[in-house]
Amino acid sequence: MSTLPKTGNEDLRNTEANQQWGGRFAAGPSVIMQEINASIGFDRKMWRQDIAGSRAHAAMLARQGIITQDDAAAIDAGLAQITAEIEAGRFPFVAELEDIHMNIEARLTDRIGEAGKRLHTGRSRNDQVATDFRLWVRDAIDGLDGQIADVMRALVLRAGEFAAAPMPGFTHLQTAQPVTFGHHMLAYVEMLARDRGRLSDARRRLNECPLGSAALAGTSFPLDRHATATALGFDRPTANSLDAVSDRDFALEFLGAAAISAMHLSRLAEEIIIWCSAPYRFIRLSDAYTTGSSIMPQKRNPDAAELVRAKTGRITGSLVGLLTVMKGLPLAYAKDMQEDKEPVFDAADAWALSLAATAGMVRDMTPDTARLREFAGSGFATATDLADWLVRVLKLPFRTAHHVTGRLVAMAEGRGIDLADLSLTDMQSVEPGITAEIFSVLTVEASVASRLSYGGTAPANVAAQVARWMEALA
Ligand code: ARG
Repeated sequence: MSTLPKTGNEDLRNTEANQQWGGRFAAGPSVIMQEINASIGFDRKMWRQDIAGSRAHAAMLARQGIITQDDAAAIDAGLAQITAEIEAGRFPFVAELEDIHMNIEARLTDRIGEAGKRLHTGRSRNDQVATDFRLWVRDAIDGLDGQIADVMRALVLRAGEFAAAPMPGFTHLQTAQPVTFGHHMLAYVEMLARDRGRLSDARRRLNECPLGSAALAGTSFPLDRHATATALGFDRPTANSLDAVSDRDFALEFLGAAAISAMHLSRLAEEIIIWCSAPYRFIRLSDAYTTGSSIMPQKRNPDAAELVRAKTGRITGSLVGLLTVMKGLPLAYAKDMQEDKEPVFDAADAWALSLAATAGMVRDMTPDTARLREFAGSGFATATDLADWLVRVLKLPFRTAHHVTGRLVAMAEGRGIDLADLSLTDMQSVEPGITAEIFSVLTVEASVASRLSYGGTAPANVAAQVARWMEALA
């Protein structure tokens, strides 16, 4: 032990047995045992959920005649006082009591005496922690869902503003065809809508109450598990006690939804970073979302976007971490599962912050529409429009039209000019049927306006989608 770095807990040596199970134990745990065992440092985050679960449990025990009404009333009043104590920052959290469940229960008994010792009837920390954690994740889902909707609203507003503004569309990060900035924004709206869908799917499956499953086998007390489930806003009690105390799918689904959403936010962040760079200069972020360099005075770094991109790593890490914790566990509960909370708490915080930063950057950014327009036409971006004209007007098969257009692109490229700068005679030397009408399809405005297929980039389509989303998100 002397070789270990100091933890700050050296003086917490426990000589007394734990008051919750002290009957079986003569002495307390070693300092290291206590340190590796305690979760109070992080699971205190679930104090509200723990108190809500205990209040529902006590009320049900009294209704079922398992404890007296007087005891239930004392428990409820005691838990109300503890709520006030924690809110005021006066609650004495202690590591010796391991976790939030035992901290609150022990404090209750300190305050109200015997009645407090009856609260744990027909309950175990195994169903208690499963219940608290589900409640916590459910609350987190509701908060994050609202935050995703906020990012979507920000994107939809920018999409409306720039519904007709052409920009280069890319595949392979090579100029492909012109699109509109609004269309590009709405692509992310679609992704985020699916992220919300994943959260609501997860919430639906999560919303079953483990309370009353007890340690693993259920209980001999005549609990009304349907009543506690309803009181806590669950749809129903869980149907198998072994599964109920050992299932962490709800946390994994939450992390899966988080990892996918973070990946979406990271892609947008990556584009923001590219668009802000000097060779691109497609958008500008204000001082609010950039930082300067301590040595290079000209710098304006998109740190917020970079950090959103980086948070994806830790969120995905949380998912992989918990999957790995769970993969070899035999039924039912094992203490390994105490390692479920920190990844979820950390991912929830990182996701929430990423969403807030993304909403901020989307509202903040100023697209350089002139520059976007200029590059929208570069790189022979309207070559497909030329080929389509040959098919539509001259009735050439598409493959032939593709070949003709390829020769015209090569000709323009050889002379260092754009397609639209070739003369009609040049064009006719490759395909005699071409008329001057061809030039009308070679502008980026004509190109985007023609993309009227459902889901296409035409400004008219973008405006219609913006209207649809405005209504859906109102
Ligand atoms: N702190 C524990 C956890 O987070 C609570 C459940 C402990 N149960 C037990 N039988 N030791 O998982």
